[in-house]
Amino acid sequence: MIKLHDKYFKPFISAQEIDAAMERLATEIANDIGDEIPVFIGVLNGSFMVVSDFVKKYKKPCEVTFIKLASYEGVKSTEDIQRLIGLTQDLTGRTVVILEDIIDTGNTLAEVHRIFKNEQVKSLKIATLFYKPEAYKKDYKLHYIGIEIPNKFIVGYGLDYDGLGRNLPEVYQIKETQFMTNLVLFGPPGAGKGTQAEFLKTKYNLVHISTGDVFRFNIKNETALGMLAKSYMDKGQLVPDQVTIDMLNAEVEKNATAKGFIFDGFPRTNAQAESLDKLLESKDSSINAMVALEVDDEILVERLIGRGKTSGRADDADESIIRNRIKEYYDKTAVLKEYYSAQNKYFGVDGVGSIEDITVRLSGIIDQL
Ligand code: IMP
Ligand code: MG
Repeated sequence: MIKLHDKYFKPFISAQEIDAAMERLATEIANDIGDEIPVFIGVLNGSFMVVSDFVKKYKKPCEVTFIKLASYEGVKSTEDIQRLIGLTQDLTGRTVVILEDIIDTGNTLAEVHRIFKNEQVKSLKIATLFYKPEAYKKDYKLHYIGIEIPNKFIVGYGLDYDGLGRNLPEVYQIKETQFMTNLVLFGPPGAGKGTQAEFLKTKYNLVHISTGDVFRFNIKNETALGMLAKSYMDKGQLVPDQVTIDMLNAEVEKNATAKGFIFDGFPRTNAQAESLDKLLESKDSSINAMVALEVDDEILVERLIGRGKTSGRADDADESIIRNRIKEYYDKTAVLKEYYSAQNKYFGVDGVGSIEDITVRLSGIIDQL
């Protein structure tokens, strides 16, 4: 990952892939042009690297020149194209190939066509290394395309973000979300998960996503996903992971500017942990840590029986039910402990002590992430 000015970019297209695409373009164009001597025209600034590498791969006689146009401000294309350097030679009767680094909206290309409107060239062909089909708004034909890319801002290989990044030999894509702290919070019943989640939320500005709450919310509000989940529950079936993941995705998207998330009650299985990784990856993010509150069984039993006496919660009153719930927790979470340990992301926290003591232990871990 790299940082240019205020933004983070992640590796996107390797130097080797670029080289292969350039090779294809050069071969294709050389085959089409035959024995003529073409004039290759680069559009400065961005295309200097494309032109340089392209002509080295073009093994027949050719001429090279440049025009210079400017349209971009920061990460946005503007309609207003400035013609900084125009054509400096007569191109009457010549075969001209425009070499572009990238075609985005096509505004720059429209200006290229305006420049050539009154030139009596034999033919005008457009070649571009990168092309963003979702952004392209014109209908000029693109004769040669190296690599189609999604409509996201890229840097490197001649392309810049506010002046920086042109010298990178590979291409990087802007990170959709900047840095987040995403935690999976675990703890057996009675470990004090709720209390600690509340604290973490405030201290680190995180959004607490409790799967139970998300389910209840969706069902109560009769969202499409809620109704779908309910249809399984009514039949006494498990709600498929994809439905849960879709609900979590909606929660994550609702809080797009969050500093991170605390996942509580999910994942429960390896497959779910993998789905959660994929979900976060699609947001250019990841789980940073599984934090598990560790409390000795006997203490948990004592705490829960105490809680049962005051709260009147039936499932907190019976010792054998309590022991069963604790056992079930360990049975279920053992695989996840392994899953996150394998990625060095498992952190056990001693959950015995005052609320403040435990809070300090948790902060110690999160501050290190
Ligand atoms: P268009 O006029 O919108 O097609 O954009 C063409 C010009 O905008 C290119 O020549 C680049 O200078 C710039 N541009 C478009 N997309 C990107 C990008 O993702 N990164 C950097 N520059 C870009
Ligand atoms: Mg350009």
